[in-house]
Amino acid sequence: MSNLYSEAYKKSLNDPDGFWGPIAEECHWYKKWDKVLDDSKKPFYRWFTGGEMNTCYNALDFHIDNGNGDKTALIYDSPVTDTKKIYTFSELRDEVAKFAGVLNSMGVEKGDRVIIYMPMIPEAAIAMLGCARIGAVHSVVFGGFAANELATRINDAKPKVIISASCGIEVKKKIPYKPLLDKAIDLSDSKPNSTIIFQRPMETATLQDGRDFDWDLMMSDAKPHDCVPVKATDPLYILYTSGTTGQPKGVVRDNGGHMVALKWTMKAVYNIDEGDVWWAASDIGWVVGHSYIVYAPLFKGAATVMFEGKPVGTPDAGTFWRVISEYKVKAMFTAPTAFRAIKREDPEAKLVKNYDLSNFETLFLAGERTDPDTLHWSERNLKVPVIDHWWQTETGWAIAANCMGIEVFTVKPGSPTKAVPGWDVQVVDPDCKPLPAGQIGAIVVKLPLPPGTLPTLWQNDDRYVKAYLEEFPGYYKTADAGFIDDQGYIYVMSRTDDIINVAGHRLSTGAMEEVLANHPDVAECAVMGVDDQLKGQVPLGFLVLNAGVTRDHAEIVKEAVQMVRDQIGPVAAFKTATVVKRLPKTRSGKILRGTMRSIADKKEYKVPATIDDPVILEEIEESLGKIGYGPQAQ
Ligand code: COA
Ligand code: AMP
Repeated sequence: MSNLYSEAYKKSLNDPDGFWGPIAEECHWYKKWDKVLDDSKKPFYRWFTGGEMNTCYNALDFHIDNGNGDKTALIYDSPVTDTKKIYTFSELRDEVAKFAGVLNSMGVEKGDRVIIYMPMIPEAAIAMLGCARIGAVHSVVFGGFAANELATRINDAKPKVIISASCGIEVKKKIPYKPLLDKAIDLSDSKPNSTIIFQRPMETATLQDGRDFDWDLMMSDAKPHDCVPVKATDPLYILYTSGTTGQPKGVVRDNGGHMVALKWTMKAVYNIDEGDVWWAASDIGWVVGHSYIVYAPLFKGAATVMFEGKPVGTPDAGTFWRVISEYKVKAMFTAPTAFRAIKREDPEAKLVKNYDLSNFETLFLAGERTDPDTLHWSERNLKVPVIDHWWQTETGWAIAANCMGIEVFTVKPGSPTKAVPGWDVQVVDPDCKPLPAGQIGAIVVKLPLPPGTLPTLWQNDDRYVKAYLEEFPGYYKTADAGFIDDQGYIYVMSRTDDIINVAGHRLSTGAMEEVLANHPDVAECAVMGVDDQLKGQVPLGFLVLNAGVTRDHAEIVKEAVQMVRDQIGPVAAFKTATVVKRLPKTRSGKILRGTMRSIADKKEYKVPATIDDPVILEEIEESLGKIGYGPQAQ
């Protein structure tokens, strides 16, 4: 019997230097590290201290210098604009080097921040790699966020330059980005020196003289810039993610640990080798896009597909199979919601039969739990292993997976399989006592976290410690609850905070409540995630109005929905709310969210003993019924 996994796993925990050191040797370093794991400033662990390298060099130049410059690096496929373009490593490096030169000519230096607010076009990856090339810290903001959210990130990151495009395309809808960017800059206290705008043929953005610069013009006379050595511990990027308040958390990623861990995962987790074709159907605005559209496949020397489209409607539910067959994709990674969307349009997977999927070996799913229905449908129709794996923006790569390049385990539906080497995953009770196999508790990871994970939050060590390290001393709190079975399979059941997962997108209900509370007629509100067949969860709002408000409730709800769309963005998918007389609370004033959610989802629930007035639950059932939720749904 093979025990490759258990050997690797044990070594990674018992001898992290012996495990990660030789892996790091496979990367290019200007100066070798002094220490693999530096635990001199606990609980702030660092990896490869003393080492110097460059992320962009390792993603591009490294392969060219090893004779692979003519191999495919990036495949851009955009059904929404009917465009396809392939870049070799040399071609991509040349563009990136020129763009690094543009940034440099605009005064961007090592350590400066650059915000990237762009659709899924190659220029977005070129911008990210261009920053990495000169040691600037990028912060990509997802295109579906509103101006307000962008402004929050501008204020926190204080970028010298912002890079954007004239528009994004959502199926057939054009989304002009420049007005959103202008508004965000107006709203923010910290102003960038300049912006660089990529003008797409379908929309021309108006440029402000002296502040906004045209991408093509700047590139036309740019001088290529070489890679700048940075410390392994220098930040590569900041990626903002939902926290429990309207203020997102700025997850920091370092250069060295990130490179070492991500390159290793391409083979260990995904079984991808140099020269293979890999596709992560996500967006560069999310961590999956950072790690697996841009960095990891390029570190490995694999070709990465960048797809500007949706699983359905661009043009049909066969688009994924078309991309897989056209580029001979060996493995792909997306969120289960994408497959639910395809399954809904083409339940019998008739379109699969039109394509040659003979090169396709594995489907990886993450972002939310893979429901057994989606798992079985995908296995049945694609006839390849379907691998659920669990991770977070903070971790940057998988905490639990069926490691296809180490040792393959039997899939258990509902489980992302076992802890990946590097991760000491445990389940504990509120007093941090380990729980026996099968018992649900808080899922935590014993420190230190492996390389490539967040070393801190951007300029906020205190929040990092409070949010992740304080509740369970010596452990990282994942804020997920679940259990581990007696064979070491991990089951991730739910979040322990108010984060919800909408179509694989992570959102904070607390942030939505902050917006709704500002409606002049709203006295009190609550937002919670309720079950949705396509998106997994969607937010649902409950509004209690100020005394004396006599306006039409439907009007107020419409305004509330618009406020969330304007201030957080369409990606929040906040479309439904109901006006209720009161919110059910415990006698100590805590809103009974779990009970309300159970009612909305038609699940059995017990009337909590601590409720201040049980009659409210009947009122809630009635209100929910009117909008199609709960046992009284009409
Ligand atoms: N720029 C501007 N708007 C965007 C956007 C972007 N980059 N991405 C999404 N939006 C908008 C959409 O147009 C939509 O707006 P609408 O309310 O006007 O229709 C809204 O945000 C919600 O978008 P989305 O969550 O994508 O829902 P959808 O109904 O358009 O599509 C799926 C549903 C399942 C097809 C889609 O969510 C999907 O493909 N998910 C894949 C999962 C994924 O990428 N996960 C990332 C982590 S792996
Ligand atoms: P994000 O930071 O957007 O990647 O979201 C991370 C959260 O998504 C996790 O904390 C989980 O709650 C959820 N999640 C991601 N992948 C999985 C998975 N495979 N199974 C269950 N939950 C998941």
